[in-house]
Amino acid sequence: TAGFVIAVDGPAAAGKGTLARALADAYSLPYLDTGLLYRAVARRVLDAGLRPEDAAEEAALRLVPEDMQRNDLRVPEVDRAASIVAAQPAVRAALLERQRVFGREGGAVVDGRDIGTVVFPDAPVKLFITASSQIRAMRRHNQLNVGVELEGAALEAAIAEIESRDTRDSQRDVAPLCPADDALTINTDGMSAAEVFQKACDYIALRR
Ligand code: C5P
Repeated sequence: TAGFVIAVDGPAAAGKGTLARALADAYSLPYLDTGLLYRAVARRVLDAGLRPEDAAEEAALRLVPEDMQRNDLRVPEVDRAASIVAAQPAVRAALLERQRVFGREGGAVVDGRDIGTVVFPDAPVKLFITASSQIRAMRRHNQLNVGVELEGAALEAAIAEIESRDTRDSQRDVAPLCPADDALTINTDGMSAAEVFQKACDYIALRR
């Protein structure tokens, strides 16, 4: 059985990580970014000269903690490859127990795509964090390129990239991205990180 788990799901660049880290801090819980697991599998596959479409189960079974600490996991080729390996049922199965172990006993804040639906279906708090693809593309860009405006064709390309990842994540057969029936959905368009955090805390106060 799991401890007090706060599940934070949603599409790419919606602000899950920012919220999850703030909640982990506020409630003194460990934080697990499950996207890093899929990114690390993708990195191993690419480094081995394989295609992410090919079977990646072995890479998932061989993951070691250091793989999640590499500094080349948040690059565009890994964004794309991670969502491709993540569609393979054998990869998801290989990573499932690792995620569950993390939430056992003391509890945790866990962010991903299927945390409230598959990994911790009994979590007492499930948040689904979303935002329009335009806002998410701009937020992601601003994290990486401080001071440079995203506009015109570059903005269109960034939106298209985020939407193709959303489509892969939402339309796969196994553990697709979707809110759990009992999740609180927060659309963060027009909200500051502090406002999202406050809304989540108000909700958690009712569920503890
Ligand atoms: O959250 P992040 O963007 O780092 O995740 C990278 C990719 O890993 C996602 O696009 C998704 O395909 C996959 N993922 C997943 N299930 C999770 C977390 C991430 O399928 N729980």
